Amino acid sequence: MANTEDFFKKVISHAKEYGYIFPSSEIYDGLGAVYDYGQNGVELKKNIREYWWKAMVQLNENIVGIDAAIFMHPTTWKASGHVDAFNDPLIDNKDSKKRYRADVLVEDYVAKLDDKIEKEVAKAAKRFGNAFDKAQFMATNARVIELKERGEAILHRLGKSLEKNDLADVKALIEELEIADPETGSRNWTDVKQFNLMFGTKIGATAEASVDLYLRPETAQGIFVNFANVQKTGRMKIPFGIAQTGKAFRNEIVARQFIFRMREFEQMEMQFFIKPGTQKEWYEHWKVKRLKWHLSLGMGEDNYRFHDHEKLAHYADAACDIEFRFPFGFKELEGIHSRTDFDLGNHEKYSGKKLQYFDPEENRSYVPYVLETSIGLDRMFLAVFSNALQEEALEGGDTRTVLRLPFVLAPTKVAVLPLLKKDGLPEIAEEIVADLKFDFNVAYDEKDAVGRRYRRQDAAGTPFCVTVDHQTKEDNTVTLRHRDTMEQVRIPISELRAAVAKAVDVRNWLTKL
Ligand code: GAP
Repeated sequence: MANTEDFFKKVISHAKEYGYIFPSSEIYDGLGAVYDYGQNGVELKKNIREYWWKAMVQLNENIVGIDAAIFMHPTTWKASGHVDAFNDPLIDNKDSKKRYRADVLVEDYVAKLDDKIEKEVAKAAKRFGNAFDKAQFMATNARVIELKERGEAILHRLGKSLEKNDLADVKALIEELEIADPETGSRNWTDVKQFNLMFGTKIGATAEASVDLYLRPETAQGIFVNFANVQKTGRMKIPFGIAQTGKAFRNEIVARQFIFRMREFEQMEMQFFIKPGTQKEWYEHWKVKRLKWHLSLGMGEDNYRFHDHEKLAHYADAACDIEFRFPFGFKELEGIHSRTDFDLGNHEKYSGKKLQYFDPEENRSYVPYVLETSIGLDRMFLAVFSNALQEEALEGGDTRTVLRLPFVLAPTKVAVLPLLKKDGLPEIAEEIVADLKFDFNVAYDEKDAVGRRYRRQDAAGTPFCVTVDHQTKEDNTVTLRHRDTMEQVRIPISELRAAVAKAVDVRNWLTKL
């Protein structure tokens, strides 16, 4: 496609056109950074959630799941540090009156340096052809080294300033780098200020009796406050994990980029409770394991990279992101955080309840350390969806739009199409639907020429089309068409279920882990 901006617009319009994502309350002109999932979106989202849940809970004997409430006792957020420290550094442009996240302005500046590096690499790859060694080029080319070191130095300074809450230095950095308002080019900035991201609300029937609450900004705290409940009732032995998926809310001020940064979103988090002192090895363990989960979906090894945090969150002693190549560049998809005993320790302090584990091997009690994996379900949706959308040139100068979703995640697995709307073909097609629907989401489509129906299913991401034609009446066979290769094979109706299951069954995907 023409350029990344055009491509991203195409992603958004395709998501709407094919019933994946709609702006929230669109008839009232929508609500900023809030989106609804349509008939196909809800299925894709459910399949991603399930793929995560099975990989984390079902396949790990020592990980169990919970579903904690969104409303939590307000002291939770004092203990977790969110009341005091869950802030974004914001800066306003005095001319355009637009508000930005100061750290994102700087990170975007560094991303442009990364783009320059990629351009140098592409140029050299073209020049050297097959003899090109990317790793060697990156390690020795003076221009690449200079760009890389500059980017690292900028991020390091940003991280340190944010850690010390030295907002004057963040502004100084923006001025030194001559960063301008991305929309207007103005460099007339205000000072940087901190802004808390939690949404407040009230619980209770009368104004006098009501209590101030927050909508949870992460699901993790629902796990921490249930640590002792789960450990005791599940007789869990360290190391063990508790997983949860659910909504989280953040009053994101700079909420652009579609479902990448939303005000209401869903997280899939797992807290792994470990013996203090073992956090380094578990950190490495979960980095490897989570990357493997991503790679099992076959979305391209080159599209992922790790990024170590310069600025550690208030709870962490080590942290990194798994970044994905979104249409607007590499950005955080998942976080892996070594949270120490910060959360359990603070909840002990604020609640006065013991949140410890008696270790029979060591014959002592301690507050466990925690290793967290945290991924945004909507962000994963965007990664999967944008990576899948392709405009493909066909023989004869034609093009087709195809949504190459991993088969295991596709909302509808099979579309059944009678070649004609007569001669008993629709009846046979409906019989096939009636049988397959117990195993898969199946669509039935008899409108338009069969070629157009194939294109519709390709664009919706359906892995297989089954066509019922006149030969079916003679020998009970149908054609099975593959979305990606467009190849068609003729197979007996009795073999359809097994053929589709082989390609789409979650079992066959998870065994790659
Ligand atoms: N419990 C740790 C935690 O919440 P985080 O890095 O703030 O850490 C984890 O968030 C993940 O949640 C991110 O990697 C991202 O995928 C997702 N996420 C965070 N804020 C989001 C937002 N405003 N919209 C969509 N997804 C978001």
